[in-house]
Amino acid sequence: MMKATTELTKEYGLATLVSLDPIMVDGTGMCGGCRVTVGGEVKFACVDGPDFDGHQVDFDELAKRKRAYVAEEEQCRLEEVVSGMEGDGAEAEESE
Ligand code: FES
Repeated sequence: MMKATTELTKEYGLATLVSLDPIMVDGTGMCGGCRVTVGGEVKFACVDGPDFDGHQVDFDELAKRKRAYVAEEEQCRLEEVVSGMEGDGAEAEESE
């Protein structure tokens, strides 16, 4: 959506600031988790942003980086659900 909006505003010559939400780990500029490319330069959203000129952001790279841990996140969600189900079962057995 942000990419589409900046493409449209670029057509009309409208300056557009975007506030990015990349993966962040330490928030200090040291881990590189929030790395984004803006105007061909590497930036860290946690210390250089999060607001950037939307017409300069490499949104394709950003989207790819944000999907880097999708499989692991899904695995964690599944484990949490299973853990919750096991917890429910134990509670039910205790009350019987
Ligand atoms: S969150 Fe680690 S460098 Fe920005």
